[in-house]
Amino acid sequence: MYYFFTQAHDGWRYLVILALVVAVAVYLVNWLRGRTWSQLERRIGLYTVIVVDIQLLFGLILWGMAASMGIVGANAARTLEHPFTMLIAIALLHIGWIWTKKADEAVRLRNGSLTFIIVVLLVLAGLTRVGGIL
Ligand code: HEM
Repeated sequence: MYYFFTQAHDGWRYLVILALVVAVAVYLVNWLRGRTWSQLERRIGLYTVIVVDIQLLFGLILWGMAASMGIVGANAARTLEHPFTMLIAIALLHIGWIWTKKADEAVRLRNGSLTFIIVVLLVLAGLTRVGGIL
């Protein structure tokens, strides 16, 4: 079971990276071009949050199983630094997504760009604690 969730969590990372990179690219390009917020950005933002939340679920299950097996802390980078970095990244994603949706339309693309840039950097940092990005 632990193996199954490790594999699911491991593989899902590619969707997380893809979703975040697409979100950064679309938000940043449209913000810098002076475009206004549209359904495209709303959908991309929403799907990115969903993809990351599914990874959060896999991660929490894995962490809970690791704790019950007594292996949390045995490898601090994998079982402590990685989960805490990712939890901070995901909390910032949710706060930033609300900040983006509730902002005036004129600044939504700016807020979204800043949110996704910070989150992608944190996620990449968290991935280095478990052996790398790819
Ligand atoms: C965007 C979010 C995340 C990504 C992209 C991600 C990605 C990864 C990857 C690639 C691994 C290595 C898997 C392997 O060695 O086969 C891993 C391990 C792990 N992740 Fe995450 N993770 C994320 C969030 C989380 C969260 C939020 C938690 C817990 C709250 C978590 C808990 C763990 C644990 C405990 C391991 C170690 C598994 C082991 O070595 O036995 N992850 N993660």
